[in-house]
Amino acid sequence: MTAHSPNRIAPDRVRSLMESELQTFEAAHPRSREIHEKAGEALLAGVPMNWMTRWPGSHPVFFAEAEGNRLRDVDGNELIDFCLGDTGAMAGHSPAPTVVAARERLGRGITTMLPSEDALPVGEEMSRRFGLRHWQLSLSASDANRFSIRLCREVSGRSKVLVFNHCYHGSVDETVATLRDGEPASRLGSVGPPVPVAETTRVVEFNDLDALAAALADEDVACVLTEPALTNIGIVLPDPGFHDELRRLTRETGTLLIVDETHTFCCGPGGYTRAHGLEPDLITVGKPIAGGIPTGAYGMSDEMAARVLEHTVWEAADVGGVGGTLAGNALSLAATRATLAEVLTEEAFARMIAMGERFEAGVGSVIEEAGLDWTVTRLGCRAEYMLGAERPRTGAAAAAAFDPALDALLHLHMLNRGVLLTPFHMMALMCPATGEADVDAHTAALAEAASALTG
Ligand SMILES: Cc1ncc(COP(=O)(O)O)c(C=O)c1O
Repeated sequence: MTAHSPNRIAPDRVRSLMESELQTFEAAHPRSREIHEKAGEALLAGVPMNWMTRWPGSHPVFFAEAEGNRLRDVDGNELIDFCLGDTGAMAGHSPAPTVVAARERLGRGITTMLPSEDALPVGEEMSRRFGLRHWQLSLSASDANRFSIRLCREVSGRSKVLVFNHCYHGSVDETVATLRDGEPASRLGSVGPPVPVAETTRVVEFNDLDALAAALADEDVACVLTEPALTNIGIVLPDPGFHDELRRLTRETGTLLIVDETHTFCCGPGGYTRAHGLEPDLITVGKPIAGGIPTGAYGMSDEMAARVLEHTVWEAADVGGVGGTLAGNALSLAATRATLAEVLTEEAFARMIAMGERFEAGVGSVIEEAGLDWTVTRLGCRAEYMLGAERPRTGAAAAAAFDPALDALLHLHMLNRGVLLTPFHMMALMCPATGEADVDAHTAALAEAASALTG
């Protein structure tokens, strides 16, 4: 069988398939098109958030309803949703226990500045799952990261943060960084950075332990912030032993370690940390823990908590750059309590991971049969296929394998066949409602794409 490396699929073929997919898309989405055109002034670029224009297709698709793993757009097209709000809906859309708890809370006070009773079970459950015993709530994962970085700088008295190349941790100034000619530089698209990012941030390649050791050697880095496996530039898995060495080096240099579980929560009820026995000083998470209602959380070890308490200026705790009036509000807490207790349970994860395995096997069989030089990588109930014959070991290698035209075509091909993948890369996530037939529908659509590309 001939292997088709990404650049051996002729660009002309990608272009002509794209033209025909665009026609199909336009015929099926007149109402979305109309709304987008009308919204062009009231909303900047016709959307509530500008990245919503980045979906392939001539305009964004406006959705009407979503339930479980199904989404219906304003033109009545139904989609099997593997994007799941880029993990915000990993519990499935509007899961019943979350909706019941949130509805019940909505009628009894949403936000008050006082803690509600749900705070205690949420803190206890987060501790039980992730192993760190002291939690705080924020409104997003970005905020959880922002606050954690500030706390690390405060307690360590050090100024720098270290992240890995092609990481994504949300809208956090210190992390919108990349490696350019071996030096930290603003990432393409970084909007109005407050200071040159090299002043705040060191960047090294994921899995490059020598570079990591060198970057920590001066003992001026407050914290390393990392996902346990990169998930935002395709999936880049840690090499065997990477996490042991990362922990050893951070401990040896007095550097704090923050593990961002926002996406790797897909590995199980306690995320990658519990599944692989990691020992971070802090964990950050957000997106799905309240079933899609905004929240974030950050937890810390006993030692970190003691240092934070020691450094807290209580009379100014509300204005010190860590906080948020709506953080820890009663609605988010009620939704988090119900989602953790009744939706994202141990049993649900077992089913979701089994669906992830089926998805991985389906993609693997298509790659094999079509002789494509692609790889498929799974992380719990999340899977990703990437161009290139080898799994990338670094963010730079993953970025280099990316082919924007082919990526856009594959997304649009899937959308036109009723399958929604995470935009910007070929990533799929399973929720408790994902079934075997849904996974197989994706496999069939991919087989059709592979045959159109290589036949
Ligand atoms: C690993 C990781 N951390 C943090 C965030 C930020 O989440 P939010 O945009 O909900 O603040 C993201 C968003 O994609 C993420 O992937």
